[in-house]
Amino acid sequence: MRHIVVMNTKGGCGKTTVATNLASLYAQQGFGTALFDFDPQGSSTHWLSLRDAGRPPIYGVTAFKNPLGMTRSWQLRVPPGTERVVVDTPASMDRTELMERVRHADAILIPVLPSPIDAHATANFIRDLLLVAKLRSNRTRIGIIPNRAREATLAFQALRRFLNTLNIAVVTQLRDSQFYVLAAETGAGIHELDEPRAQRHAPAWLRLLAWLEQQPPAYGRTA
Ligand SMILES: Nc1ncnc2c1ncn2[C@@H]1O[C@H](COP(=O)(O)OP(=O)(O)O)[C@@H](O)[C@H]1O
Ligand SMILES: [Mg+2]
Repeated sequence: MRHIVVMNTKGGCGKTTVATNLASLYAQQGFGTALFDFDPQGSSTHWLSLRDAGRPPIYGVTAFKNPLGMTRSWQLRVPPGTERVVVDTPASMDRTELMERVRHADAILIPVLPSPIDAHATANFIRDLLLVAKLRSNRTRIGIIPNRAREATLAFQALRRFLNTLNIAVVTQLRDSQFYVLAAETGAGIHELDEPRAQRHAPAWLRLLAWLEQQPPAYGRTA
């Protein structure tokens, strides 16, 4: 089982968009897929509640709630046969939460909007992440995903140079599209929309999938 955690303490950068589209892509590719929602806003949970029963199934865990009388490990269990766990996270996390979220992560995906404010906030987030989670000492890979990319701003180029110095990969790039909004409203991934123009976005997602899957599974990891 592999855990892919989507995070960035900057709000609105596309965490839920990446988490839901990736989960539906994994499900469509035949992977046993679970989607964990750690954000109290519950956007991923809501997206899953809209998902058509006829689509490839995704097992949802509303992880931000702690139901009375249920142990944490029972709440976070996944069905047998789960191969990929996609984790959506909130914008605000304290250090303990941050460490807890990345503890089991095989890969961390960081969406970022190419605006100056977002680029700077993301550089700071990555600095914190590397410091707090000491990620370089284990196998967790980090990938950046520029989202709603229209043009590269100067600040974004500076972010890219910063990422280069840290040896952090830009794994794919997502274009701005109303199909993401439509997909979000219908419990689908963009590739599942019955709309030929939405298929133009498929290569970006397949690039991400190829990057995620090129790594052999880490041994001895459990949920
Ligand atoms: N590439 C995109 N094109 C168009 N709209 C997008 C794109 N990515 C995200 N959005 C929209 O932007 C808003 C914020 O994205 P979301 O994924 O919810 O961010 P986060 O989870 O980081 O707060 C949502 O309404 C979403 O549908
Ligand atoms: Mg979100």
